[in-house]
Amino acid sequence: MTDVTATGPGPPLLAVDELVVQYRSRRGPRARRQIRAVDGVSFSLGTGEILALVGESGCGKTSIVRAIARLQEPSGGRVLFRGRSVAHLKRRALRRLRRDIQVVFQDPFESLDPRLTAYDTVQESLLVHKLGGTRAARREQVLAMLEQVGLHPAEAIARRYPHQLSGGQRQRLVIAGAMVLGPDLVIADEPVSMLDVSLRAGILRLMLDLRDARGVSILFVTHDLSLAWVVADRVAVVYLGRIVEIGTADEVIRAPLHPYTRALVSVIPVPETGVRRERILLRGEAPSASRIPGGCRFHPRCPLYRRLDEPERCRTDDPALASAGPSASGPAGAGPAGAGPAGAGPAGAGPAGAGPAGAGPAGAGPAGAGPAGAGHGHAVACHFARENS
Ligand SMILES: Nc1ncnc2c1ncn2[C@@H]1O[C@H](COP(=O)(O)OP(=O)(O)OP(=O)(O)O)[C@@H](O)[C@H]1O
Ligand code: SF4
Ligand SMILES: [Mg+2]
Repeated sequence: MTDVTATGPGPPLLAVDELVVQYRSRRGPRARRQIRAVDGVSFSLGTGEILALVGESGCGKTSIVRAIARLQEPSGGRVLFRGRSVAHLKRRALRRLRRDIQVVFQDPFESLDPRLTAYDTVQESLLVHKLGGTRAARREQVLAMLEQVGLHPAEAIARRYPHQLSGGQRQRLVIAGAMVLGPDLVIADEPVSMLDVSLRAGILRLMLDLRDARGVSILFVTHDLSLAWVVADRVAVVYLGRIVEIGTADEVIRAPLHPYTRALVSVIPVPETGVRRERILLRGEAPSASRIPGGCRFHPRCPLYRRLDEPERCRTDDPALASAGPSASGPAGAGPAGAGPAGAGPAGAGPAGAGPAGAGPAGAGPAGAGPAGAGHGHAVACHFARENS
């Protein structure tokens, strides 16, 4: 099995090992076809770390989330939380897991009970898990939590119902209900995608602050690579149920190796840097998870495959995630004049100077060498990553 334990000393908080999630389509001409939404995904997450899972719609992000939180039975692989498999947990342990792993979904309205005030929403989290102590102690905790997520004055906000809050306030309330339980892991599945751009920065800032203040680990799921760069320590790029590239946010965004990542990076909106950016527009839609192309699943859309005159290997041989090697990500400035996330804060504007994909010596490393990169280290699933410079 893949080594998914390499996030530093001791076992990682979360280790996902060769996870597979399949569905069976029920209706339509493809009835009873297998949908392989997650097709062998491995990664790990350390304490206090933020890992972003990035990929376009339908690539399997939410299916990964649901399997980790045991909202969906995986069809294969393992999810280890603090070194222990989450499968077959007995009632008590499962209850504890439901407290230690909190999921924040994209639509706060759907997550909130319209009949509960903000106060009752947060209190309910405590009551369900028999936490919070006396009524007075609970009250103190609830109000402090509302303040901590930026819902002030807490006393006044506490009396409001969800429809009396703004979108950003509603998402803050969902986060308060999750954080009041003191989880070790928060999984945020597109937490800002339904919010106005003006509200996004505040929620992202809040998540970073909560990580800093409480040491919580965050799995941040997004289709927006520029948001990933703003919040994440590491980034995993998902394509059609697989991680095709993983590494530090800097490695993946400033020196992307996989042609898919390069295409994503090339269209990130960046402030004017004076550098000419070549936008890589992928042909066609992502294929359906019920009909994954053979060989490298990306080959029908891959610009590098075409540039290399369609090598047979891409059609016949499914590339595994492999270490990109120490030199593969090149010097930090492999992209031109990158200054890191724009404005340093989560302004939502994304990385300055991510650079045109394909610029710089990014693909110099021996892709294919070394162990599968499920832990730390820059890893890529492409036979020809080294040619991609
Ligand atoms: N319950 C289900 N039954 C059948 N197919 C499903 C089910 N849930 C998801 N799928 C399919 O599995 C694939 C992955 O879906 P998933 O929701 O995990 O993707 P996603 O990356 O979260 O997409 P989005 O960005 O749109 O939220 C898609 O092809 C989707 O249609
Ligand atoms: S193996 Fe690499 S070059 Fe070949 S199709 Fe896949 S991503 Fe493209
Ligand atoms: Mg989703």
